[in-house]
Amino acid sequence: MAKAQIQSVRGMYDILPERRRLFDHVMNVFSQAADDAGYGRVETPLLEDEALFIRSVGEGTDVVDKELYSFEDRGGKRLALRPEGTAGVVRAYLEHGMASWPQPVKLYYLEEMFRYDRPQEGRYRQHKQMGAEVIGDAHASTDAQLIVLLGRVLKRLRLPGISLQLNTIGDNACRPAYRKVLVEYLHAHEQELAAIDRERVAKNPLRVLDSKEAKTRAVLEDAPQTLNHLCEDCQAHFAGVLEYLDDLGVSYELNPLLVRGLDYYTRTVFEFYGEREGSQSSLGGGGRYDLLIEQLGGSATPAVGFASGIDRVLLEMESAAVVPELAKVKGVYVASLGEPARLAAFRLTQGLLDAGVRASGMVDKDSIGAQLARADRLGVPYAVIIGQREVRDETVILRDMASGAQEIVPIKSIIAELRLRFGIT
Ligand code: HAM
Repeated sequence: MAKAQIQSVRGMYDILPERRRLFDHVMNVFSQAADDAGYGRVETPLLEDEALFIRSVGEGTDVVDKELYSFEDRGGKRLALRPEGTAGVVRAYLEHGMASWPQPVKLYYLEEMFRYDRPQEGRYRQHKQMGAEVIGDAHASTDAQLIVLLGRVLKRLRLPGISLQLNTIGDNACRPAYRKVLVEYLHAHEQELAAIDRERVAKNPLRVLDSKEAKTRAVLEDAPQTLNHLCEDCQAHFAGVLEYLDDLGVSYELNPLLVRGLDYYTRTVFEFYGEREGSQSSLGGGGRYDLLIEQLGGSATPAVGFASGIDRVLLEMESAAVVPELAKVKGVYVASLGEPARLAAFRLTQGLLDAGVRASGMVDKDSIGAQLARADRLGVPYAVIIGQREVRDETVILRDMASGAQEIVPIKSIIAELRLRFGIT
């Protein structure tokens, strides 16, 4: 009996070469924009102490309570696969004494995240994020700078119809009072709330605000809004963020129900959406987290950041048909026919590679037609053909794959000739 084949883990997938190039394209656009704006790339481990996420993202959030991949290692230590990037970056900031670097510290990352979520299109158990964090700066222009950075990346990827939603959720000075008013309102309407939200009122009342349940949403129409319960500092900060965005002509929508799913936020929160239908359309989001560094053992340090799901950005690009035609690979396929050509073809392929020319070929018994079909599939502009006669004459046939035109070139000059045609200096 044939053995059952092992499949990839649910919610995790392989990225095959063609699609991988598109990921690289998105990542390159992001890295370029972040590098230009003075951010340095950071990489943190995929595994962290579980407590890091419990203390930052927060108990009571779906990401920690329901979606964390956590386990005990062989030494009995509780570890977790990171579900998001901010906590690890802040841990690294503290661990490497970055507080003594010139502030603010501007970092970006391109990393895999893991969430035990219900898989569906645009929502996976392993996904890639591109994110940026500015640590050590409380100024409203920094919030605006980050919002504009992500906006610029999405624009460079030629995504149409991107919208931006903004809100502020206050800080320790004003949020407790707001929370109280909100809880009173929600209690007064408890019977009208969806069951899942009734539970949330006690655990994490602000999360009720972004409920997807129709019943709850109806209740929320008249719910108290953070904007009307801000302390003076939070009010001034938010006004500052809007001023910078207005000055650049960035359009946004104020959404009083936007709260985000992680506990560390204070003040500004934002989210970018695409045009695709459905609740999975948030292309990226972030906000301020002025209390997190202290919460993780550092001294009070303001910070703000965002992350965007690369998988979702790609889906959005595909649905808007703005996936770029990636440049054809400049290279050559070496085809050979017959035993005497075998060594010459192998030697030439390796010689081309030594000389910095992309080259591939296979020493096999396929017909020239089959080999040229393979060259076509690779999309290379040239094929070099070597048969018995070419070996004898010390020549090769150089074939232009687009036109089919062929010419005879001495084998000793073919490498220089191809370098010239590919502009390799
Ligand atoms: P987040 O909103 O949880 O924020 O995730 C950021 C983005 O990652 C989302 O907007 C979405 O595009 C993508 N994403 C999240 N979960 C999935 C999933 N299961 N499958 C595919 N894509 C997903 C954060 O993670 C914060 N650390 C952002 C941040 C940085 N805030 C401040 N600094």
